[in-house]
Amino acid sequence: MNDSKNIRIALTKGRLEKDTAALFEKAGYNVEMLRNKGRRLIIEIPETGIEVVLAKAADVITYVEHGVCDMGVVGKDTIDEHQGSFFEVCDLGFGKCKFALAGRKGENFYEGFGVKTIATKYPNVTRRFFEAKGMDVDIVKIEGSVELAPLLGLSHGIVDIVETGTTLKENGLEVYEDVSPISARVIVNPVSMKLKKAAIEKIVAQMEQHRGE
Ligand code: PRP
Repeated sequence: MNDSKNIRIALTKGRLEKDTAALFEKAGYNVEMLRNKGRRLIIEIPETGIEVVLAKAADVITYVEHGVCDMGVVGKDTIDEHQGSFFEVCDLGFGKCKFALAGRKGENFYEGFGVKTIATKYPNVTRRFFEAKGMDVDIVKIEGSVELAPLLGLSHGIVDIVETGTTLKENGLEVYEDVSPISARVIVNPVSMKLKKAAIEKIVAQMEQHRGE
């Protein structure tokens, strides 16, 4: 448990980091140190008692679950895949994209009786999606550029993140079906929520107030 009086927020590095910094700025925080962080991984937001920890998405969840960070900003994609024991308290409305089932253009994915093979970086999301349909599929875990799998004949389809759709289009693929929407979420450690309730609620309220502006 992070037992200092400060609130420690784990922030997903990259695009969500920039959007969150912009949100903090609108809320009146001084984010200069966050913007000019260089290679530093722990950054203080002056006069707020907030400490920002920069981490990879899945690690944001790990740090919040273990209580070494009180809160986190992470994509719904990572939450859906990893799940875990934390509260999801707010949708920040940025980092919007979706999980979708996709494959080679013009093919009818649901045709035929054989068990289909799906390539994905998100095996848990994929398993639940097809379980809900009562459909048996073989899932192959891929680490990146999942679009290659149907092109190389490894799989009938993919379950992946689609944002603009450009990657699919430029590779002769198309969305067969949407799986679920994705956006940045605020998560909170349950013990922190009890012990630092007022401070956490204040930060969440500020973030909610300025999201999507
Ligand atoms: C994601 C996803 C797609 C792409 C979709 O990959 O896996 O490949 O973005 O975006 P688009 O619809 O705007 O084209 P990412 O950039 O995270 O790289 P990765 O495959 O190496 O994880």
